[in-house]
Amino acid sequence: MRAVDVIMDKRAGKELSREAIEFLVGGYVSGAIPDYQIAAWAMAVFFRGMTAAETAALTTVMLRSGSVMDLAGIPGPFVDKHSTGGVGDKTSLIIAPLVAALGIRDPMMSGRALGHTGGTLDKLEAIPGYRTDLTAAEFRAILARDGFAMTGQTTDIVPADRLMYALRDVTATVESIPLITGSILSKKVAEGADALVFDVKYGSGAFMKRSEDAQALAESLVHTGAAMGKKIIALLTDMDEPLGNMVGNFLEVEESLDCLEGKGPADLMTVTLELAARMAVLGGKAADAAEGRARCEEALASGAPRQLFLKNVESQGGDVEKLLALRGTYRSEICGEVRAASDGYITRIDAGEVGRAGVDLGVGRNRTEDRVSPTAGVQFHKKSGAAVRRGDRIMTVWGRDRPGLDAALPLLERAVTYGEAPPEVHPLILRQIGG
Ligand code: URA
Repeated sequence: MRAVDVIMDKRAGKELSREAIEFLVGGYVSGAIPDYQIAAWAMAVFFRGMTAAETAALTTVMLRSGSVMDLAGIPGPFVDKHSTGGVGDKTSLIIAPLVAALGIRDPMMSGRALGHTGGTLDKLEAIPGYRTDLTAAEFRAILARDGFAMTGQTTDIVPADRLMYALRDVTATVESIPLITGSILSKKVAEGADALVFDVKYGSGAFMKRSEDAQALAESLVHTGAAMGKKIIALLTDMDEPLGNMVGNFLEVEESLDCLEGKGPADLMTVTLELAARMAVLGGKAADAAEGRARCEEALASGAPRQLFLKNVESQGGDVEKLLALRGTYRSEICGEVRAASDGYITRIDAGEVGRAGVDLGVGRNRTEDRVSPTAGVQFHKKSGAAVRRGDRIMTVWGRDRPGLDAALPLLERAVTYGEAPPEVHPLILRQIGG
């Protein structure tokens, strides 16, 4: 087999055999096939797409490029949630202890902030001492004891994706549904979960701007996951406005604790409960989403998920006393505000703009090697639908440094749209795919 023939076949729109996909991906990981041939093939896939069988073969081949977390000996069920990324989305921090309280084990491997979207690992690392570099043995032990563990991907999990994603990033081939499916699903299946709930977001702060594209990705994840023997549900959720009232690494840990104490903002609680309810269904703890939601609400009211969260902080090296003492005060000294530019109603707060401001503030990063700040971020005092008078405080903003704050403030001002009437209310959960 020659790589150039496989590229030509894909360029002509032919369906590739599993052997051809294995030859390309395996050859790339071993170093036998160079970057430029994989880049050309990825561009051919971008334009020609892949059949369901090809996407399943790609995902399986990528998965097999590395090791799969061995959860043997730990009682299940193992169910995880994955979000395609957003702004202010801290649902993972709430959901893992919440479903653990229902008796579901969540083996959670997460990523870092990149571009305008936040990252679970950066949020967790804002807790003093918290480790996100667990060894496989530590991950297993904490998962068995606490019901969930939260860590970064080890280097032996899907090495094919590390290489291919970096190449796609610089060759304009990221936005391909089959390539995204292979990338996301191979990593999630490698964690060892039996079932997965995907939060596929659409809107200005999401990876997919249009709900139609999010729907296509959700369908691809559900069908490919099913072909790999996994139980999958996807929810399409709105990410046009930041989720909750806090955007920032420590700020989002604080807001997660608020949710675990029953004091979370309504939008964040809705998305959290809808996702957790589907995890309850897939984990066999509820017959349907309504029962799952009721079980999750009961668990939250019992206080058990909060206890499990704090137990996990301790298990992963975090300092619980410090975490609780820093609550409400761990903020950068470099601070500003956004005030209402006119009388009327806030009709929109553009999540994408807030996410880009977050990079200037030090919440997120543009390049993987950049460092983030635990104490930078934005607190919203008002969100869309609120009536305002000119000069009312809408946001408090903390920057890692003065130039970052100065760059972010105009973006945050621009993120807010005003009108004379309250905006139409959009559903936060558009629909469910699968299940
Ligand atoms: N996130 C991933 O992990 N992979 C992609 O291809 C796109 C987004």
